Amino acid sequence: MNQDALKKAAALAALEEIRALAQDAVIGVGTGSTVNHFIDALASSGISIRGAVSSSEASARRLAAHGIPLLGLDAIAPGTLPFYIDGADEIDPGFCMIKGGGAALTREKIVAAAALRFICICDASKKVDVLGRFPLPVEVIPMARAQVAHEIARLTGGSPRWREGIVTDNGNHILDISGLAITDPPALESALNQIAGIVTNGLFARRGANVLLLATPAGIERSER
Ligand code: A5P
Repeated sequence: MNQDALKKAAALAALEEIRALAQDAVIGVGTGSTVNHFIDALASSGISIRGAVSSSEASARRLAAHGIPLLGLDAIAPGTLPFYIDGADEIDPGFCMIKGGGAALTREKIVAAAALRFICICDASKKVDVLGRFPLPVEVIPMARAQVAHEIARLTGGSPRWREGIVTDNGNHILDISGLAITDPPALESALNQIAGIVTNGLFARRGANVLLLATPAGIERSER
């Protein structure tokens, strides 16, 4: 089974996970190739949701192309988004994640924060013991990019690199930090949040996943925090 087939298997497992709850509900939808499979499967599933809160312009376009209604977070009462479905670039045994490989981390963190449950859908290559082999994305205000890179290197010992040519949905830039072994994800998430000019860092540790649907060649492994 190739990686894309595993991503699709995880997406289909998510559909079954939410089937009973999703009818007439508003759901949070993430970004990336795994979520794209989920959106396509949702559209032909027979589940009629009230609408989706999207974490990116790209997912919003895909949802709209399927005729799935889009809603802003303002349109729903706080505390009523039952779940948020998204992939990850890495996930550790404590369900902390690195996200943002698709540069959508800020809106992903916002929608994830609004949801009661985060359902993470991944192929088995994303499961790691220690986060950091995948470079940690950080969204920065463009004018602060060089200064933030300097501060990140000083704080973490890692090597930040500008993802040239990428502008986020919020008009900002991305730095990818390589060379990290993140043994205390909540602490690093908080420390990075203190650097002026960082909008969001791609560590999802303080709000990690609640459910992991991991697609392996042997089948779906479901685990819950
Ligand atoms: C988007 O910014 C990311 O956080 C994605 O959720 C993550 O990169 C997973 O993407 P794939 O599903 O494409 O592997």
